[in-house]
Amino acid sequence: MDSFELNKIAGAVLAALLIIVASRTFIEIATAPHGGGEHAVVGYELPKPTGDAGGENAAAGGDSTAAGAPAAGFDAAKVASLVDSASAEKGAKLFSKCKACHTNEQGGANKVGPHLWGVVGRPKGAVEDFKYSEAMKAKGGNWDNEALAHFLHKPKEYMEGTKMIFSGFSSDADVADMVAYLNTLK
Ligand code: HEC
Repeated sequence: MDSFELNKIAGAVLAALLIIVASRTFIEIATAPHGGGEHAVVGYELPKPTGDAGGENAAAGGDSTAAGAPAAGFDAAKVASLVDSASAEKGAKLFSKCKACHTNEQGGANKVGPHLWGVVGRPKGAVEDFKYSEAMKAKGGNWDNEALAHFLHKPKEYMEGTKMIFSGFSSDADVADMVAYLNTLK
């Protein structure tokens, strides 16, 4: 038997193996459960916010530990303290990220989200003819700078179940500028 012959045999064996592996994979894909049984969970569970609104009115029943918030690397109270010296003009530019869903003028209509005229100081979820999520209705308290800062940093962290689909601002300065701008809407 020459080496050419051996090569042919080796090739045939490899080809056979390949076919076995490929068809097994194919069968696995074809028979993988979908529909019936348990649905695969897509993504991963986000950690539950521990600090809630941080220093927000304790009456709202939030967690008592303001120290819980910094675990996420974001300190709503600290950012709220930056609002007075933040730039409302920069915030106004950042509003381009909001205006698909929110109006900012007096008497403005609701869009995907409620109008934001006078939002600072107003109770959460208070626009009469807007259909808020249960999460918003249950949250309680007013929109002060700190609550807004936390919400705009990570809506879903501040309010699990909110229907505001916005990923949030990661930069503290952006959050402070945005809140400073919201303070001008009155
Ligand atoms: C994709 C649409 C969308 C975008 C973008 C969006 N929002 Fe919202 N927003 C909503 C919805 C919907 C709600 C109501 C949430 C609920 O009921 O849970 C909301 C609620 C709010 C509230 C609470 C208002 C109230 O009456 O209680 C504030 C404040 C707010 N948004 C600010 C902003 C700001 C500032 C931006 C831009 C940085 C922004 N949103 C971007 C859809 C959006």
